Amino acid sequence: MLLSVVVVVLAACAAYVSGERGVGQAGPGTAPSGQASAGPALRDLMPANIRIGAAVDGRLYASDDRYRSTLVTDFNAVTAENAMKWANLQPEPGRYDWTASDQVVALAQSHGQAVYGHTLVWHSSVPSWLSESWSREQLRSALRHHVRTTVARYRGRVWAWDVVNEVLAEDGKLRDSIWLRKLGPTYIADAFRWAHEADPDARLFVNDYGVEGRSRKADGLFKLVRELRAQGVPVHGVGFQAHLRSNTAPIDATSNLRRFAALGVSVAITELDVRIQLPVSTKKLLDQALLYQHMLKACLAVSTCESFTVWGFTDASSWIASHYPGYGAACIYDSDMKPKPARDALLHELRRRVAPSPR
Ligand code: G3I
Repeated sequence: MLLSVVVVVLAACAAYVSGERGVGQAGPGTAPSGQASAGPALRDLMPANIRIGAAVDGRLYASDDRYRSTLVTDFNAVTAENAMKWANLQPEPGRYDWTASDQVVALAQSHGQAVYGHTLVWHSSVPSWLSESWSREQLRSALRHHVRTTVARYRGRVWAWDVVNEVLAEDGKLRDSIWLRKLGPTYIADAFRWAHEADPDARLFVNDYGVEGRSRKADGLFKLVRELRAQGVPVHGVGFQAHLRSNTAPIDATSNLRRFAALGVSVAITELDVRIQLPVSTKKLLDQALLYQHMLKACLAVSTCESFTVWGFTDASSWIASHYPGYGAACIYDSDMKPKPARDALLHELRRRVAPSPR
């Protein structure tokens, strides 16, 4: 099995590196030349019970034809990369600006895509007007108001929420944050209950990074989810961000996801990208493609995997370059919207699953 994907990916690497592959070739949507592209798209091959998503920049979604055409052809779900973060939604106390988040939801709905809400409670993107000098009750009521207001607004239009994001430190203990310092550890259970009251049908996730494979942090997350579930807190799923490097695979990703599923929760790959130490090479493109395929396999191997989301699908709109100097090319399409071998590896894995087994 591994051989077949390596063969496929090596051929894709050769075609990609030799530039044989034009914009949109073997990719979805319609190439500028109007030529229909070959083959089924990712969303066509994904099992019906698992959504394939991408983090999106709403402005590009609205204004860039190639960005939109590739996005709506390959993905049946979207996550707002930044538009639904608290600091962006509520730039001033008491004043919400829903323009950017409404735009993402409206575009997604008009293209038959589900929306994954990101994120309600986080140590980052906290509005600048909110101060640690406030009393515990003032902070708690501001947080409660934000969770309820945001979830209620998108009730029935957002299928799942990252209720709490990145709550753990690297040692698996709760991360030091304004919320932990001022509200104590109960802020997590509170946030889930507030979100559940505001939309009882929304799937509610705890989301974190560095937990995709077996690690102290993953063990800490496992313990946290088990405790919250034992307290009857409405935690429905666990999101594994998966911001990976092309030469480093998570340890035992499939068995790690499986143990979480055994707690009775869904799992989801929520923010997958595989950054390459520049310059790009055939070997690094191969490693990247096999890691994308590896994470998809892990999701497909767990019956409660709900979604598989990439954090940006084109190198033209990816956070990596600005956050990891010397790294880049982390997405399945390059900055010219040419599909990369990573996309071939995902297609190969999906085709392998739907292809009838040889008699
Ligand atoms: O929109 C402003 C622009 O007007 C201004 O000129 C520019 C210069 O400062 O900043 C722009 O805002 C930036 C925004 O991305 C949009 O590009 C923010 O400074 C920048 O901090 C923000 O970075 C985002 C980061 O989260 C912080 O919120 C990244 O795009 C986004 O990919 C990243 O995503 C996070 C997930 O939410 C959680 N998991 C990790 C992941 C990667 O860090």
